Amino acid sequence: MSEKPLIHVKDLVVSADGQTILSMPEWRLGAGEAALLLGPSGSGKTTLLHVIAGLIRPSAGTVTVAGVDVHALRPGQADRFRGRAIGFVFQTIRLIRALTVEQNLALALNLAGKPADKSRISATLDRLGVAELAAAKPPRLSVGEAQRCAIARAVVAQPRLILADEPTSALDDGNAERAFSLLRDEARACGAGLLIATHDGRLKALLANRLELAAR
Ligand SMILES: Nc1ncnc2c1ncn2[C@@H]1O[C@H](COP(=O)(O)OP(=O)(O)O)[C@@H](O)[C@H]1O
Ligand SMILES: [Mg+2]
Repeated sequence: MSEKPLIHVKDLVVSADGQTILSMPEWRLGAGEAALLLGPSGSGKTTLLHVIAGLIRPSAGTVTVAGVDVHALRPGQADRFRGRAIGFVFQTIRLIRALTVEQNLALALNLAGKPADKSRISATLDRLGVAELAAAKPPRLSVGEAQRCAIARAVVAQPRLILADEPTSALDDGNAERAFSLLRDEARACGAGLLIATHDGRLKALLANRLELAAR
């Protein structure tokens, strides 16, 4: 592991409605490392990914990404940091419905401060087997197609950190492996860190580095 971690979680407590939903004394992910985030439903996997991305504020403790405490930033700064540094595959997908798939990827590039390079967009979609959906809008996609497009959006701008929340839950074996390989290859190619929350047994065999959350 490199000396300066890409993710550093310290003394983290997350509460909602007066109850602790997640606590974690310390955890690190080195730059360029990949890990699986495991744990039963309700153990806090989604919560942790959202805290790391600066989308949920912890009640105590700190989380830094590339040395930046995203919760200490002003909202506009936090949005800019997230757009530039983090690619996120949401459990609920969250493609923008009014934009085409290609425009969704172009927006991710724009938020990362990069040009909307059409050849990069189509190459990324192609690796996930959804290049022919570039002009489609999300409401007409199947869940599996939408999931692959959401993975493409998360990696297209080559972020320093890729956070993926159950990214293969709707995919058949072939597409799950293809999606996992793409996440790993993209992360490796740009030296990005990768954290994949999953209860997908097919992925457990593919990655030894694990962070396991306990049932509450
Ligand atoms: N906004 C919220 N308010 C209250 N409880 C919440 C909230 N978000 C999540 N929780 C609870 O926190 C726990 C962890 O949820 P989550 O992070 O979604 O788990 P996982 O992704 O591992 O299934 C669950 O018990 C869930 O009900
Ligand atoms: Mg979840």
